[in-house]
Amino acid sequence: MSAPDRQSITVFPCPRVAGSLTVPGDKSISHRIVMLAALAAGTTVVRGFLRSADCQALLDAMSRLGASYVFDGDELRIHGTGGTLRAAAEPLDLGNSGTGLRLLAGLLAGQPFTSELTGDASLRSRPMRRIEDPLARMGARVELLGEGGCAPVRIVGGRLYGIEYTPPVASAQVKSCVLLAGLFAEGVTTVVEPTPTRDHTERLLTAMGVPVRTEGTRVSVSGYGSRGPRLAGRDWVVPGDFSSAAFWIVAAAATPGARVEVHGVGLNPRRDALLGVLTRMGASIKVEEDRRSNACERLGTLRVEGGALTGVEVGGPVIADLIDEIPLIAVAAALARGRTVIRDARELRVKESDRIHSVVDNLRRLGVNAEERPDGLTVEGAAEIRGQVSIDSYGDHRIPMAMAILALSATGPVRLDGIGCVNKSYPEFWDHLRKVGAYAE
Ligand code: S3P
Repeated sequence: MSAPDRQSITVFPCPRVAGSLTVPGDKSISHRIVMLAALAAGTTVVRGFLRSADCQALLDAMSRLGASYVFDGDELRIHGTGGTLRAAAEPLDLGNSGTGLRLLAGLLAGQPFTSELTGDASLRSRPMRRIEDPLARMGARVELLGEGGCAPVRIVGGRLYGIEYTPPVASAQVKSCVLLAGLFAEGVTTVVEPTPTRDHTERLLTAMGVPVRTEGTRVSVSGYGSRGPRLAGRDWVVPGDFSSAAFWIVAAAATPGARVEVHGVGLNPRRDALLGVLTRMGASIKVEEDRRSNACERLGTLRVEGGALTGVEVGGPVIADLIDEIPLIAVAAALARGRTVIRDARELRVKESDRIHSVVDNLRRLGVNAEERPDGLTVEGAAEIRGQVSIDSYGDHRIPMAMAILALSATGPVRLDGIGCVNKSYPEFWDHLRKVGAYAE
C-alpha cells in the first residue's frame, strides 16, 4: 500500500517478525545528488534514487530552475544546466522537505537573481534563521517572510564572500547550505561544527572533483566566485537509507525469536549510531560490508536476531548521529526492561513535528509510561503494549512508522491515522511491513 490518499491503516500484532528486505535509497544523498546534477554539465544517471514526495518536490523545483529529468525504469536521468540556473517565475514549493529548502537556499544565495522558497504548513513552521544568519554574513539578502523567522524565504542572490561560521546547533542541513553557498563565494568558507554531522555533501563534492578540507570539526571549501564550480554529470548508485532500515532493525532486535536481513544499507559512520545503542541494549546485530558501491559511502547487509533488551541512557554528541532514529529508540525502550533516558535532543522539538511530544503522546496511548523532558524523554519499558487504540501521526512520517513497529507487539490491533506523510521518505513501508510477516489493512 503506497497510495498517497490512504489516511489510516490498522496494524495487527505479529508474534513472528522475519524476512529479508532491500530498503529504498537514502533521502539525504538523493537530495544532494539532484542539486549537484542540476548544476553540472551533461547527464547524471542515478540508480537507487529515492522516489518519494520530498525528492519529487526537489526535482520539480530544480526543473523550474532549468534542469530536466526523466525516470527510465530503475534509473533517473538528470540533464544539468552547466552551472547556469535560471530564475523561477513563481515561488519554489519544497513541500515537506527541510533538506530541500535549506540546501537550495545555499545554492541560490550566489545566483544573480531573486528566488522565493516555500513549503507546506509544517515546513513553514520550522526555524530558518539558522540559514538566514550565515547567508546574510556571506553577502546575500535573505528575508524570512513567515512569522517568527520561518519560510517563505526570499533570497536576493548576488556576490558572496567566504566566512568562518559556527552554527548554534549541530545541523548537516545548515553546514551543507553554507558549503553550497561557499562554492559561489570569493575566498574560503569554513563551517566549524559544534558536533560533527552527516557528511554526505562533503563526500559527493569530493567525488565530483571539488576539494573539501575536513580538519576535526572544521570543514572548508574554496570558492569559485559567482560562476561556481564546473561540475560534470556522472553515474551514481544511492545506498539504501539507514534511517529506513532502522525500522526493521528495531522490529527484529526487540522481538525475541525474530530474524531480519536488510541489504544494500548505507553505513555512513555519521548515520549508523543506532547500531551502537541497540548493541548496548543487548541486541545482536551483524554487519557485512559490501565494497562494490560507487556512492562514495560505505554500504552493507545487516543481520539482526531478536532478544531481550534493557534500557539505556543516551545523550551527548552521539545524538547528532542518531537524530532521525530517536522515535525508534523510544520504541525499543518501550519493549526493553528498565528505564531509558534520552537527553541533549532538543532539536527534536523542531523536526517535522515536535518529536518529543508526538512520541510521548503516542507511547502513552499504547499504555507505555513515558515522560517529556525539555531536551528528550524518559521511557519505562516492558509494560504491556495496549491494542484497540489509535495513533496520531502528527503529519510526521517517522511517527506512524515507528509506532507501527511498536504495534507489532501490542495486545490487539492498532489504528494509525494520518499516514499519508509516510510517502515523504518511504512509500513502500506498508508493503515491507507485510514482508516481515505483519498483517496490516
Ligand atoms: C538531514 C539532516 C538532519 C536530518 C534530516 C536530513 C540532511 O537534519 O534530521 O532528516 O539531509 O542533511 P538537521 O541537519 O537539521 O539536523
